[in-house]
Amino acid sequence: MSQNAHRIYVFTLVGIVVVITIYLFYQGVSYYSTSLEERFYHADHAMLKPSGVMGHGLGIIGTLLILIGVFGYIARKRYGFLARFGRLKYWLEFHIFLCTLGPIMILFHTAFKFGGIVSVSFWSMVAVVASGVIGRFIYIQIPRTIEGRELSLAEVKGMKINIESILKNSYTLDESSYTAILESTQLPARTGEGSLMSGVINKYFEDQRTVSRLKRSLRENRLPEPDIRKVSKLIRNELSLNNRIERLQSMQNLFKYWHVAHLPFALIMLVFLVIHVAVVLTFGFKWIF
Ligand code: HEM
Ligand code: HEM
Repeated sequence: MSQNAHRIYVFTLVGIVVVITIYLFYQGVSYYSTSLEERFYHADHAMLKPSGVMGHGLGIIGTLLILIGVFGYIARKRYGFLARFGRLKYWLEFHIFLCTLGPIMILFHTAFKFGGIVSVSFWSMVAVVASGVIGRFIYIQIPRTIEGRELSLAEVKGMKINIESILKNSYTLDESSYTAILESTQLPARTGEGSLMSGVINKYFEDQRTVSRLKRSLRENRLPEPDIRKVSKLIRNELSLNNRIERLQSMQNLFKYWHVAHLPFALIMLVFLVIHVAVVLTFGFKWIF
């Protein structure tokens, strides 16, 4: 898929979600904003109540969308032959699309009443969607191959350049600046312990101070200004790569914990959904069939 085709793909998916949400809201705003006691007398009650033609239909279609979104994505990850139907990245985007639209439809299915044991399923669904948003954020922080495989620490480390030989071969540096640059751009011994949010900001200022200190030292030792600029750029690139390497392991660990937190909510949702469907079928609700 070319970059433009991908943009159109994402735009279409987002557009569908927005249009359907606005339509459902517009269609039912008068009914949903009526108090629970008075809804019975509302003209749209027969259609929009959770067992009404539209309300019930939204529950069934929304649930089907979620099931297709979850099992489709899991199947794509497990079975190699599905790879010919598109990159994992596109399937994840489709998973997010179906698993956002499905819960929105279910929200309208409940007609904004969250009673009974099925509310456990509803709130678990909300938790899965919320954690999905966080998971997506972590997911995009981890460098991957085109096929969607996470790059290992060694592979990202392999992107580091041999700054030692570049400095030796291309510039005439004094011994103390040379040693200081090598020391500052060395990977910290404990990669993987890199802190996240607050650490990122502290690290940015620390790196700025390191670059200024090294530039001062190069100036004192009369390196020509164009060379100072080139060496500073090299130092900045190396520091930025070091940070990515440090954060990579934190992000990968965080993503592992995220998986552990995400799955149980999806399972709880599924279990209570099965009970809910069994109960409504026992009570004889058959939708249009
Ligand atoms: C995750 C999926 C679902 C959730 C979270 C959900 C949630 C709910 C909620 C909160 C209610 C309102 C309970 C109340 O009146 O206080 C409800 C009612 C209902 N749901 Fe669902 N539902 C889901 C899927 C389904 C499916 C797949 C079906 C159809 C097989 C279905 C059929 C019904 C029916 C018929 C009612 C009305 C029951 C009555 O009036 O007593 N729901 N649902
Ligand atoms: C009811 C809604 C949802 C359900 C039931 C659900 C369920 C799942 C399940 C079971 C997995 C695990 C797949 C695996 O381990 O291979 C998964 C993965 C994932 N989901 Fe969802 N999800 C939902 C909504 C969302 C949303 C709204 C987002 C993002 C905004 C999202 C983002 C992700 C991400 C980033 C992954 C990890 C992909 C990977 O590691 O390959 N999910 N989801």
